[in-house]
Amino acid sequence: MTTVETGLLDTYGRRAVDLRVSLTDRCNLRCTYCMPEEGMQWLAKDTLLTDEEIVRLVRIAVRDLGVREVRFTGGEPLLRPGLVGIVAACARLEPRPELSLTTNGIGLARTASALAAAGLDRVNVSLDTLDPETFRTLSRRDRLDDVLAGVAAAEGAGLRPVKLNAVLMRGVNDHEAADLLEWSLERGYELRFIEQMPLDAQHGWVRANMITAEEILARLGARFTLTPEPSATRGAAPAESWLVDGGPARVGVIASVTRPFCRACDRTRLTADGQVRDCLFATTETDLRAALRADATDADLAALWRKAMWGKKAAAGVDAPSGIDAPSFHQPSRPMSAIGG
Ligand code: 5AD
Ligand code: SF4
Repeated sequence: MTTVETGLLDTYGRRAVDLRVSLTDRCNLRCTYCMPEEGMQWLAKDTLLTDEEIVRLVRIAVRDLGVREVRFTGGEPLLRPGLVGIVAACARLEPRPELSLTTNGIGLARTASALAAAGLDRVNVSLDTLDPETFRTLSRRDRLDDVLAGVAAAEGAGLRPVKLNAVLMRGVNDHEAADLLEWSLERGYELRFIEQMPLDAQHGWVRANMITAEEILARLGARFTLTPEPSATRGAAPAESWLVDGGPARVGVIASVTRPFCRACDRTRLTADGQVRDCLFATTETDLRAALRADATDADLAALWRKAMWGKKAAAGVDAPSGIDAPSFHQPSRPMSAIGG
């Protein structure tokens, strides 16, 4: 059978080819849009998949389920001791998936070249501010220099183009939108702004506080001329893209809330404790860890994974195209740090 017949399909005709794997729920920052300052409940160690278990599940996804792209996330994936080995093992899979990493950049200065040598193709680094004081307010840690060193190291190691993600928080860093873009353009980095989503562990998200894509574009428009890129180039990519001052430089905006891209979603997710989620906002999970540890065969695991994806909702956890803005939307009980970004 071909992957087309056995891939991760759902009842809306979507096919998941992009796998996000969370390697840990822990983090060395405490970004306010993600975690409270204290009191996070971490996953118990014995529930975390081992490196071998992760590679086995990625192998099944790539070989039997049509997954073509694997992105490692967290929490902070650089905190996972076996990361380089996991990347190396995934780079040896047939067919070889595209491999990327979403990180806060801390520690990347030390590991970027080893990761590139192991077969990592690309990185996305979170960078919300260029001001050390604002960084401390936003992430509750004084680590901006480490992040900037990590970004430079990724570039130096050939993990190009370096992509940067920024979340704007009202009254904290929203005045920095144009500065962040200018800084990124000067260095050849690709910057994307992400609308703040209700995925924080403390459930503090308030719709009215969110900086919308429209506001982001207005702030950028005060300094740059933005022209929309044809939507045909968006495909399943959530970022809508604008040419800056005529191009070729671009800036992306991920309007997860105000312009959801769920109709084209091609993602499937595996949490650090071995649960498949069909969506960031899913309210149910499928336990691959239990099956795996009860001696399931590869075929059993593939079948479970397929079944997990088949019931995927139309949009962000609801049976409506409006997703997070739907009246019936409920924030999932697990925070993003436990799901994987
Ligand atoms: N809303 C939007 N983006 C978020 N991220 C983490 N939490 C949220 C949230 N609540 C971002 C991180 C990282 C990416 C994986 O998602 O900053 O760049
Ligand atoms: Fe850590 Fe990323 Fe959450 Fe910030 S957003 S606390 S860097 S996991």
